[in-house]
Amino acid sequence: MTFVAVLAVSCCGDLQVGDFSVSPLPKEINIKDGDPYVFGRRVVIRTTDELETVAGLLASDLEEAFGKRPEISDNKGNIILSIEDSLPTEGYRIECGKDAIRIAGGGPAGVLYGAKTLYKALPICGQGPVALPAAVVEDAPEYPYRGFLVDVGRHFFTVDYLEELIDIMALHGINVFHWHLTEDQGWRVPVPGYPKLIEVGSKRSGTIKAPGSDEYDNIPVEGFYTREDMERIVKYAADRQITVIPEIDMPGHMLAALASYPELGCTGGPYAIPLRFGVFEDVLCPGKDAALVFAKTVLKEIMDIFPSKYIHIGGDECPKDRWVECPDCQARIKALGIKAIPGKSKEELLQTWFMGQMKEFIESNGRTMMGWDEVLEGTPDKDVVVCAWTSPAAVTRSATLGHPTIVCPIQHYYFSNPRFNQLKGRESLSRVYDFQMVPEGLSEEQMGNIIGSEACIWTEWVADSTKLEWEMLPRLAALAETQWGSPKDLDAFLPRLKKMTGLYDRRRWNWKEDIAQAWEEVVE
Ligand code: ACM
Ligand code: ZN
Repeated sequence: MTFVAVLAVSCCGDLQVGDFSVSPLPKEINIKDGDPYVFGRRVVIRTTDELETVAGLLASDLEEAFGKRPEISDNKGNIILSIEDSLPTEGYRIECGKDAIRIAGGGPAGVLYGAKTLYKALPICGQGPVALPAAVVEDAPEYPYRGFLVDVGRHFFTVDYLEELIDIMALHGINVFHWHLTEDQGWRVPVPGYPKLIEVGSKRSGTIKAPGSDEYDNIPVEGFYTREDMERIVKYAADRQITVIPEIDMPGHMLAALASYPELGCTGGPYAIPLRFGVFEDVLCPGKDAALVFAKTVLKEIMDIFPSKYIHIGGDECPKDRWVECPDCQARIKALGIKAIPGKSKEELLQTWFMGQMKEFIESNGRTMMGWDEVLEGTPDKDVVVCAWTSPAAVTRSATLGHPTIVCPIQHYYFSNPRFNQLKGRESLSRVYDFQMVPEGLSEEQMGNIIGSEACIWTEWVADSTKLEWEMLPRLAALAETQWGSPKDLDAFLPRLKKMTGLYDRRRWNWKEDIAQAWEEVVE
């Protein structure tokens, strides 16, 4: 790969000079005296073996910008990629001068973020040759966990489309794709020994038409991912420096599994996959050994497919009604000697025990358990990673208790929530952008427990990619700025955001246009 080819910049007219004030905003941009780098007839990306994937992605981005793919070389080039050990792994430095643009990163992730900054800095050019100003840009993200969740249980999205979503995440510096794979309304993962999870659990016959409605659309919803599909997503994401964290939600939100294997529930069923949404009383029966074997078999398969350190096992919204009545659950409680304590019923403590069993299993496979903040209703070990979704107060509680904490309160970061989506324009952005991720009143040590944040798209009312993108964009850019640690100034963010929407348009990604009201007064 040592040849040089001509890159035709498909513009003509006046020189257009780009701007490194992209979103998320780099930590330091020092504009230098001197000539800009002008993208001319020849653009060659120089790389090393280790950075070959990053170089390929940069070539694709520049191809999209200029209409022709630059070549990649291992011994010459005018965009030069390198690793520099003194930089943070996810940090980078861009040196842009007349003759070359050098991007150094502490690791491939840093180089990729530098390459994305370069791409975003380019003018979105209709006409004219393109340049970038002489500058040194230094940057690194603030939070190590920068996540985005997509629920494929309520509605199914194809592997091809998930790759598109991963591209969107990569543009925003997201480094975790939290893949919510199972729900009451659909099970999406084949598990050896349990074929009915797919034959029965991955299909439903229709969907309620609107919240509170008693009408159903009779449009079948079905789909699942083969092991190869999931491995493909893991690789596609890893190439873009994104870790896929799988979630198997248990012991609640499991009706699709119970409809497939009724013997795993307290009553023995029969159970039906619901066509409506909400929290259902029928959940996994922790009193039955078969249910524990099932849960561990599923997790084993998941851990074989997904190399992530964290494995998410839900733990949210699990009513205890059935467990109170179930002889097997009550026998388990008795055998374990579980007694109610002030503020906690025996059945709540049974869930703590069940989650503890799964945690032990996950740890025996060298991984770390992650759960929703309901896991704090028990007294889990401090190393359990908590996604604090129920409120900002849950963030405080989790961080105070000493858990690695992911900030994702429904009020701010549930992009699909019908109630909060009533907000339009500036308020809609501000709901995300101005939310103080780190609550007041935490000690330095407790603040250190907050390892990042994530936004969520739950797909009860999201059946297609257009709506998914409307909910995701452009608020994902607001989230990304808070994850990256850009200074909080909504007015200053708006021009950067406007530029991002130009990139969305170029990729034909849908975005919520009412948000453009936010910059009408601020951006000329
Ligand atoms: C959740 O929204 N039930 C995690
Ligand atoms: Zn039971």
